[in-house]
Amino acid sequence: MIPALMPTYNRADLAFERGEGAWLYATDGRRFLDFAAGIATCSLGHANAHLVKAISEQAARVIHVSNLFRIPQAEKLAARLVEATFADSVFFCNSGAEANEGMVKAVRRAQAKSGHPERTRILCFDGAFHGRTLGMLSATGNPAYLDGFGERAPGFDHVPLNNMNAVRSAITPETAGVMLEPVQGESGIKAADMRFLRELRTMCDEFGLFLAFDEVQTGVGRTGKLFAHEWAGVTPDVMSTAKGLGGGFPIGAILATETVAKHLTAGSHGTTFGGNPLACAAANAVLDVLLAPGFLEQVRERARLLDTLLDNLIRECPDIFSERRGLGLLIGLKCVPKAADVLNAAHNAGLLAVTAGDNVLRLVPPLVITEADCHEAVSRLKQAAEAIRATSRETVS
Ligand SMILES: Cc1ncc(COP(=O)(O)O)c(C=O)c1O
Repeated sequence: MIPALMPTYNRADLAFERGEGAWLYATDGRRFLDFAAGIATCSLGHANAHLVKAISEQAARVIHVSNLFRIPQAEKLAARLVEATFADSVFFCNSGAEANEGMVKAVRRAQAKSGHPERTRILCFDGAFHGRTLGMLSATGNPAYLDGFGERAPGFDHVPLNNMNAVRSAITPETAGVMLEPVQGESGIKAADMRFLRELRTMCDEFGLFLAFDEVQTGVGRTGKLFAHEWAGVTPDVMSTAKGLGGGFPIGAILATETVAKHLTAGSHGTTFGGNPLACAAANAVLDVLLAPGFLEQVRERARLLDTLLDNLIRECPDIFSERRGLGLLIGLKCVPKAADVLNAAHNAGLLAVTAGDNVLRLVPPLVITEADCHEAVSRLKQAAEAIRATSRETVS
């Protein structure tokens, strides 16, 4: 019989009743170190006092009013994002895929309204992941996700990442913009070269194209900068973000320069829930922590510590882990056995993580992890590696 909850996920048989910092407590009494963070989303960890207070106080006042009215919490959040980034204007929505849909609409509309209605195509990259809406499935391009869902939405072309020749030869008079994740998350933590990002910027300027970054996963401090593109010293024309922005409360955003944003006039785009008082109160609380002096430096320090510890782990367990990838606290460990088996062993050792493509184990802890959490996570990974070795010895004998 079909379960009441649609069977769209391969769920681990674990349920949690509470959390604290980077730790989650399961209903069966076990305690887990959470290096999954709701898939790179619980940026402040669990039960963060400041976030809980902001959400509860806002919920007790007013949760939702709709965008028919002014929303001071959204105005404040937008002003802070504008102040902290390249953007001149922000649109709030509810998820990463929705932010990307809006971002593509913004790119097409800005081209159309500035004299190029023929420019509708978006250049995307092999291995991209932009979400599960019909449009973003097409931007993602992975046939596995498209299976059974009919025709692809038109208007998305794909070329290999980090290959400027391929990019240049794929540009046509119909190209409107280029969309990419500074570090591809779902497909195995594959970073775009910094130089490639700079060359894309130059090329977009040369051809009058818009550069669109999908920072749904890489944004909001995940890589140790507020947004990952800051590492490359380039700015996009438009950017999407979501995941960590609400610390677990659903909110997405499109950030754009005036050149792009000015064309999204009243009635051109919208959403019922986007930017409601509760979601924006949550995101403002996240920014209070992230933008506090020294916080992002602390994220970078934790990332450096994990890098060192994980490199040692790879040296000690070359039969289990072959490579470390990523930027900041968006970390991939390429596995030798099946990543799903390594994840299972990690769960048994009390560590939560996520798999990614290319046989990678993804470690995306809350940004508030302590040094002790980092040491504990790596020691649990070592336990997991030893358990896998023990199982394969048993299988051999
Ligand atoms: C880079 C990127 N873009 C878009 C999405 C889709 O976001 P959502 O699941 O919130 O729709 C994801 C989700 O993993 C992502 O990693």
